[in-house]
Formats: sequence, C-alpha cells, structure tokens
Amino acid sequence: MTSSQKVAVVTGGSRGIGFEICHQLGLMGYHVVFTSRTAALGEKALSDLHHFGIHADYFTADAGNEADCKVFADWLATITSRVDLLVNNAGVFLDTQDHAPLLECGTDRLLDTFSTNLFGAVYMTRLLVPLLEKSSDGQIINVSSMLGQLDTMHSGFPAYRLSKLALNGTTKIFAEELASHNIRINSICPGWCRTELGSQEAPKSAAEGASEIVWLATDKSKVTGKFFNNRSVVDW
Ligand SMILES: NC(=O)c1ccc[n+]([C@@H]2O[C@H](COP(=O)([O-])OP(=O)(O)OC[C@H]3O[C@@H](n4cnc5c(N)ncnc54)[C@H](OP(=O)(O)O)[C@@H]3O)[C@@H](O)[C@H]2O)c1
Repeated sequence: MTSSQKVAVVTGGSRGIGFEICHQLGLMGYHVVFTSRTAALGEKALSDLHHFGIHADYFTADAGNEADCKVFADWLATITSRVDLLVNNAGVFLDTQDHAPLLECGTDRLLDTFSTNLFGAVYMTRLLVPLLEKSSDGQIINVSSMLGQLDTMHSGFPAYRLSKLALNGTTKIFAEELASHNIRINSICPGWCRTELGSQEAPKSAAEGASEIVWLATDKSKVTGKFFNNRSVVDW
C-alpha cells in the first residue's frame, strides 16, 4: 500500500453491510483491511473486491477473541504503519424469537452476543490505538443500532439490545479517553438492511446501510462521542 493512501480496517467485512463498506471505501481510494471468522467467505469477498480494482487485504479473526485480535493487530502493523479508520462492524443477532423475554434469555446467548458486539469493539479499539494515532485524523465508527437506544428501550431482542446499549456506552467512554490520542469515535445505526442479520424483510439494501457509515467516515465536522441515525445526531 502507498504511504499516501488512507487505510481503513473493517471488522466483519465478508458480507452484508461490512462488505459494502469495504466496497464503497475502496472505490473512494482507501486501502481496506477486513476480517471475519469464516476464512472461505472472507477469501471470496477479497477476490470480489480485487475484481472491482480495490486495494484490500483479508485476515481471519474472531473479533470476540482477544488473542485472535492481538494476532491480527500484530500482522496489521507489518503491512501498514498507520490506520485512518476503524469500523467496528462485526455483529451477531442471536435473539431468534421477536419477543423472547430477558427473563428467559439464556446466559450463553447473552455472552455470545456480547462477545462479538461489545468485546470485539473494545479489543479492536484498544489494539489499534497505536496505529490510529499515527493518522492526522484517526477515527473509529462503532456500528450500533437504534435497538440499543436507551430512550426507546423496551422488551424484545434482549441480548442484541443490551449489547448495542453497552457498545454505545463504550463510544462515550472511549471518546473521552481517546481525545488525548487525537482519535475520534462515534456510534451509528445503518438502518434496517437486507442482510443475513437483518433478513430479507428489511426496507434498505446493505449498500444503502453502508453508505450511512461511509457518510460519517467522510464527514468533515470532526465530531466525537455522538450517536447517529439518518445522518443526524440522536439521543442515546
Ligand atoms: N442489517 C441490519 O438491519 C442492521 C441494523 C442495525 C445495525 N446493524 C449492525 O450492522 C453490522 C453488520 O450487520 P450485517 O447486517 O451486515 O450482518 P451480517 O450480514 O450477518 O454480516 C456480519 C459480518 O460480521 C462477521 N462476523 C460476525 N461475528 C464476527 C466475529 N465474532 N468476528 C469477526 N467477524 C464476525 C460475519 O462473518 P463470519 O460470520 O464469517 O464471522 C459477517 O462478515 C452489525 O454490527 C449489526 O449489528 C445491522
């Protein structure tokens, strides 16, 4: 990769919104580095991005596994001395029944959901700070959901809702902690999109959801510590 080319890291980039983020950033000239757990799908996505003429690399890593994230971060430091953008996009939705109550939600479901949706973002953020602070405009985007908004919180999808609520909490905490590192961090909801996670019932395409994240990534207002939906700041 060239030293002038912006570098973006996207977790969970092998399909859905993450793949479209890689595609759109790549077309804008970014070198994109993406991860996922399933190597075969990751390699297929990498080949598709190369087919579009996009500069991209792929690494198999479970965002919810701190050791995996450390191996990824060490490898990343061998291929680039700087990261301009980290998109914590990897996410799972394990609440299979619409109104499965928290009263009955299994501990495994809670832990597995938090592993990717919360801890994945925490591990990747902590490990990539040394590369992000080398950028003149280091930025982190946590892909959240309006289902994690405290103001409108109610029952249904408890593991997912709580994981995104907690993710939003990390955005606020890290925004304060990372200010002295000159790194910005925000949460954003891409909207309900047609993906494996969102189902085919959703009104928006994955590309439309990704365009929300790309909009924030390229926004010039230098905002930090906020939650976005439909390109506006919303309440937590
Ligand atoms: N779709 C929606 O309507 C919607 C709405 C609001 C927010 N979001 C958020 O948008 C993000 C992307 O969702 P999506 O709809 O694009 O989901 P998706 O189609 O299911 O894709 C998820 C991606 O994340 C990867 N992934 C999952 N767990 C991972 C882990 N532990 N480590 C690394 N990679 C992992 C998946 O690959 P592997 O399974 O191979 O790892 C895949 O590449 C999520 O954070 C989701 O919560 C989505």
